[in-house]
Amino acid sequence: MTADLVLRNVTLPTGRRADLTIAGGLVRHVGAPLHADETIDCSRFICLPGAVDMHVHMRGGVQAEKEDWRTGTMSAVAGGVTVVVDQPNTVPPITTPELLRARIHEAEGHAICGFAVNAGVVPDADLVGMWNAGAMAFGEIFTAPSSYSEGLDPEATRGLFACIHALGGLATVHAEEVLDPAPATLSDHDSARSGAGEVRAFRAVSAIAPEGMRLHFCHASTAASVEAARGTVEVTPHHLFLSHEVFEEDDARGRVNPPLRDEQTRRRLWSCWDKIDVIASDHAPHTLREKTLSFQTAPSGIPGVETMLPLLMAAVRKRQVTLVSVMEKTSWRPAAILGIPRAGFEPGDRADFALYPDEVTRIEASRLHAKCGWSPFEGLDAVFPEEVIVRGRRVYSRGDYCETHPAWYPGQGYLSSKDV
Ligand code: DOR
Ligand code: ZN
Repeated sequence: MTADLVLRNVTLPTGRRADLTIAGGLVRHVGAPLHADETIDCSRFICLPGAVDMHVHMRGGVQAEKEDWRTGTMSAVAGGVTVVVDQPNTVPPITTPELLRARIHEAEGHAICGFAVNAGVVPDADLVGMWNAGAMAFGEIFTAPSSYSEGLDPEATRGLFACIHALGGLATVHAEEVLDPAPATLSDHDSARSGAGEVRAFRAVSAIAPEGMRLHFCHASTAASVEAARGTVEVTPHHLFLSHEVFEEDDARGRVNPPLRDEQTRRRLWSCWDKIDVIASDHAPHTLREKTLSFQTAPSGIPGVETMLPLLMAAVRKRQVTLVSVMEKTSWRPAAILGIPRAGFEPGDRADFALYPDEVTRIEASRLHAKCGWSPFEGLDAVFPEEVIVRGRRVYSRGDYCETHPAWYPGQGYLSSKDV
């Protein structure tokens, strides 16, 4: 057999060095290499399984000025993310199997890496139809208003949860308490959607979720919310690396839901690192024009899919967190929660990898690939991958895109309907 690719001298999480032989999109052999069409020597790289970013807003359609599947997945890949899970608060929102299929079709035509699409959850949505059509998960389910979505009330949420539970689906929830939808400054925004309110919202959602329902909390912004979450919990890079204090008070580029908190709260979030299941970016790009109109009307959301792993890899270098914990929270846990095959270093694992050099640089928005052209992380330390492999194919190499690999990952509803 001639393999597609051999990764030579990979340092495995155990510390052992080995050669990985890849064919048909999977790791086939670990040890002495088989003959292959292409070889990459990994001795000077840190090799990570490709990240699964389970919370991105790829936009497209009438919102293509902000981002589209091509630029959004180019940005993902340049940041070591090889699977993105798209959120359904598009315009129009994904609420029917037809809209879901059209969204998957749009991604198949333009994405350059793996992707999945979630189903929108509103009272008249066809949840069963979308589940059977391949939705990966349900939500993010908004229990408070946010960009391009109204909040659901508890009664509606209860009914929709019952349906998701009956299907065996995963409910992913954006839970907040909102006192003021049009704050004037970043501090106002922090108070209007407070950390304490977020904890109350997490508890309220946990209380109405049916026993045994698969439940995932999106973007917990405080340590107390991480503690309050039932099921699994996700945290974003912006809540870990940014406080609202690093922005001018009226700079809407720092406006995001849930809001950036103060410096002390940000630091405390790191202290519960071990309790966080998933780091996901909530990549939610808006144009600079939208962000600079007026703070009160500026949309909430910031881009981050390309900078997530680079920021975390810089934190690994500073020994703030371990390399294996980053692999867990960015690749293995999200894949397990969603039921996506695992990327990794064992025979049979999905062959998605990113190779990081041992060199720290700084984030420069002008070098990123998201369409919006700005980053709230400008100037922060980062380690960007040099090579990225998707399903055994080198898709990105030192700034160049070599190949595209738009693999769709359907959810369990679709997969079980295909079982004989
Ligand atoms: O800040 C946010 N932006 N939070 C969300 O929940 C939605 C997102 C968006 O789509 O822009
Ligand atoms: Zn959200």
